[in-house]
Amino acid sequence: MTQAAFRTLAYEPGRLTLLDQTRLPREETYVDLTHLEEVARAIETMVVRGAPAIGIAAAYGIAVAAREGLDLAEADRRLRRTRPTAVNLFWALDRMQRRWHAGADTAALEAEGHAIYAEEVEASRKMGEHGAALIPDGATVLTHCNAGALATAELGTALAVIRAAHAQGKHIKVVADETRPVLQGARLTAWELMRDGIDVTLIADGAVAHLASRGEITCAVTGADRIAANGDAANKIGTHGVACILNAYGRPFYVAAPWSTVDERLASGADIEIEERSADEVTTVFGVRVAPEGVKVRNPAFDVTPAKWIHRIITERGAVPPGELISGG
Ligand code: MRU
Repeated sequence: MTQAAFRTLAYEPGRLTLLDQTRLPREETYVDLTHLEEVARAIETMVVRGAPAIGIAAAYGIAVAAREGLDLAEADRRLRRTRPTAVNLFWALDRMQRRWHAGADTAALEAEGHAIYAEEVEASRKMGEHGAALIPDGATVLTHCNAGALATAELGTALAVIRAAHAQGKHIKVVADETRPVLQGARLTAWELMRDGIDVTLIADGAVAHLASRGEITCAVTGADRIAANGDAANKIGTHGVACILNAYGRPFYVAAPWSTVDERLASGADIEIEERSADEVTTVFGVRVAPEGVKVRNPAFDVTPAKWIHRIITERGAVPPGELISGG
C-alpha cells in the first residue's frame, strides 16, 4: 500500500517529535517536545490532531512525564483536559494508567506507547483492506476534514481506504472539501494526497450538494472521533451535513475508524461531548479578521452523524452496518 512520505509522530526516550500541522502546507516543520506541558499544549493547539494521533501523542506524553519525574496522576489529568471529543485520548490514557498502576517503569511506559503506535498502524492497514472492497473502480470519493496519515500513526482511516483502493490499481479520484474553520481538508488532505500522487480536487464546503446533485460523487468516506454503541459517529463539524447530502442523492456514506474510536459505554451519540473551540477560528482566516468585531459566534468543532445515515462502519475488524458494529465486532 502507498506509504505516506512523512512522519506525523516519532518518540525516542524523553522526546516526542511532531510534524507541526498548524504550519502545513506552507512549511514542513518538526517540533521536539521534552515536557509534558508542551505535549498537552500541542494537542490543544492542534500541532497534532486527528483522533488516533491524539491518543498516541497522549500516551507518549505520559512517557515524557515519566522521564521528567513528574507525578503521573497529575500528568494524566492535564492530558485529559486537552480535547474532549476524541475517545482515543481517554482510551490511550486509560491504557497507560493501567500500566503505571501496575508498577510499570519508564521504559515499560515507553514500550506501551510504541505498542499503541504499532497497533494503530496495523489497524489502518486492515481498515484499508476492508474499506477498499467498497470502492468501485473509477469512483470519485468525497472526504471531509483530514483522516489521513496526519491524523494517525501512518496511512490514516478514510485515507487508508483510499490509499488501499489506489494501490489495488483502481482509478480513484478524491474530492476533498476545505473543512472550515480550521481547513484540514484544504491544508492537510490535499497536501497529503498530492504527495502520494493520488488525484485530488479541492472544493468549498458549500459545493458538496452541487456536485452530488450532478452525480459527480460516488460515495463519501470520513473518519470519526467517537462512535457510540448504536453506530452514531462524531466527527469534524460538517460531517453530518455531508452524510445528509449523500443520503439525499442515494450515495453511500462510510465511516472508517479504528476500534480505539468505538466507545461501547455510550448508548448513542447524544451522550458525546462536543468540543467548542475559540471564536477566533471562525472570525479570522490566518490572522485576518473576516467578520465584524463583536459578532456572536458559535464554534462547535464536531457533530454527530446518526447511524441511520451511515452505510458501513469500517474498522480493523471488518466493514459492517452500524447496527452490527457491537454484535459483529
Ligand atoms: O479537530 P481535528 O482536526 O482533530 O478533527 C479531526 C477529525 O475530525 C478527523 O476526521 C477524525 O479525528 C478522524 S482521524 C483519522
